[in-house]
Amino acid sequence: MQNQEKVIVIDFGGQYNQLVARRVRECNVYCEIFSYRTPIDEIKAMDPKGIILTGGPSSCYEDGAATCSPELFKLGIPVLGLCYGAELMDYVLGGNVERTKEREYGHTDIHIDTSSPLLKDVPENTTCWMSHFDYISVPAPGFKAIATTRNCPYAAIANDEEKLYGLQFHPEVLHTPYGTQMIHNFVRGICGCAGDWEMGSFVDKTVGELREKIGDGKVLLALSGGVDSSVAAGLLSRAVGKQLTCVFVDHGLLRKDEGDQVEGVFGENGSFDLNFIRVNAQDRYYKKLAGVTEPERKRKIIGEEFIRVFEEEAKKIGAVDFLAQGTIYPDVVESGLGGESAVIKSHHNVGGLPDFVDFKEIVEPLRYLFKDEVREVGRKLGIPEYLVSRQPFPGPGLGIRIIGEVTGEKVKIVQDADAIYREEVDKAAKEAAIASAANDGIIIDAENPDYKVMRKYYPAWMPDQYFAALTNMRSVGVMGDERTYDYAVALRAVKTVDFMTAESAQIPFDVLQTVMSRIINEVRGVNRVFYDLTSKPPGTIEFE
Ligand code: XMP
Repeated sequence: MQNQEKVIVIDFGGQYNQLVARRVRECNVYCEIFSYRTPIDEIKAMDPKGIILTGGPSSCYEDGAATCSPELFKLGIPVLGLCYGAELMDYVLGGNVERTKEREYGHTDIHIDTSSPLLKDVPENTTCWMSHFDYISVPAPGFKAIATTRNCPYAAIANDEEKLYGLQFHPEVLHTPYGTQMIHNFVRGICGCAGDWEMGSFVDKTVGELREKIGDGKVLLALSGGVDSSVAAGLLSRAVGKQLTCVFVDHGLLRKDEGDQVEGVFGENGSFDLNFIRVNAQDRYYKKLAGVTEPERKRKIIGEEFIRVFEEEAKKIGAVDFLAQGTIYPDVVESGLGGESAVIKSHHNVGGLPDFVDFKEIVEPLRYLFKDEVREVGRKLGIPEYLVSRQPFPGPGLGIRIIGEVTGEKVKIVQDADAIYREEVDKAAKEAAIASAANDGIIIDAENPDYKVMRKYYPAWMPDQYFAALTNMRSVGVMGDERTYDYAVALRAVKTVDFMTAESAQIPFDVLQTVMSRIINEVRGVNRVFYDLTSKPPGTIEFE
């Protein structure tokens, strides 16, 4: 993002680093993550209003530890060090850092100096989230303590003159109740950022930039109907209209009515100006998947077939100038391109498409946005809430929610069961949210709710991902006077922050019973419903 007031986060490999950037953006200040290896001249050239040093796994006094140039603290730019970042700043500037007797982890009471600009509007006694094995034992010259805990005489340090600050704990996690306030104090107060980063101006700015970049060129986008590609389509359509062609491949493994919903929004009768091509490839997929039961093989077939279908369409369209992708910021960071975090997964937005399309350049209009920001942009563009707030849905779709062989008949069963499940969970969560908001004197319109408000009042059990899957098991049952021998549906619902670990969500039993009885009564071919209690690990979220 050029010409945008920004704070930069220097990544030392800590696990919460994306959260730091998100918290800064919640203060309406744009922020990007860079590896600690980034040369100081490059940092200077970015002209940031502030610098935040993250946590990390090293010990700053050990050989080979992740470090930074002492010059970083002499640029006249405010610096805030968090955990390892605070220790490193102290150490580099001549203080002392030592190992604690015991690793300190979890909620910790903290006593703070409320006169510090970093701790403005924070109560004198509060709690913070600690996760460290080293601590600042001697502050660097010019620094003083501005907070203490039982084990840390320097739980927060400050050199107000130089605008250098350090927190031994993690203000970025929600377990530090006033953490966001501290980050706000730093970026808006100490760094003096105006706080003009918001999604409305992002849309205007990006549309202008896209127009300039694309000129009268042709753009091709693989539209999956997921949040990222839908929002990318909306932005590009706003920028270049009919110069954009979206290819939507319906592989027959989408959720109930999803193909029609996507076509309704982006197709001929929708509200976006673009060329929309829907490829109904269900039969091709089912044919390829016939008799295949091994999960990885299924995944591979679905991915390869997608490329083949898309390639055929791309050939019909001919050469394009730009291939658009819905890459978002976490994809960039996780691919190891932005920060320091280990490569967690290579992002699979369009599964290797670039090799199969004749194009000159890639365009990624969402490259700098976090997921919540992408959703907000979608709302600003007028994309309906059911698309914008969609749950994550895997590329191979229902293909990995049907255990064993995939057939058209099984797809229909799982689609119908899943639609009932989602409808009932959404209904119960909405009712609970409306009741809970009413207790706070806030009225949520049931017909046309403000989703931002409603989300705040969702019950604690509201899952982050929930869906039905079809087990490959058939069992005996009785319906009316007749014996049945039908499939069992499994209901999955998980609470998760990062999808790397997850807990089974505690959906109320009466809601589950309603779902069960509706599925048995309304979906032919099912006579048993299970609720999956497995955490991840050892289970995965999907079934295959
Ligand atoms: P698992 O099953 O690995 O799922 O615990 C973690 C998250 O990733 C999604 N997922 C996928 N997404 N292609 C995707 O685009 C895939 O092959 C795939 N497999 C799992 C899953 O829905 C969950 O959100």
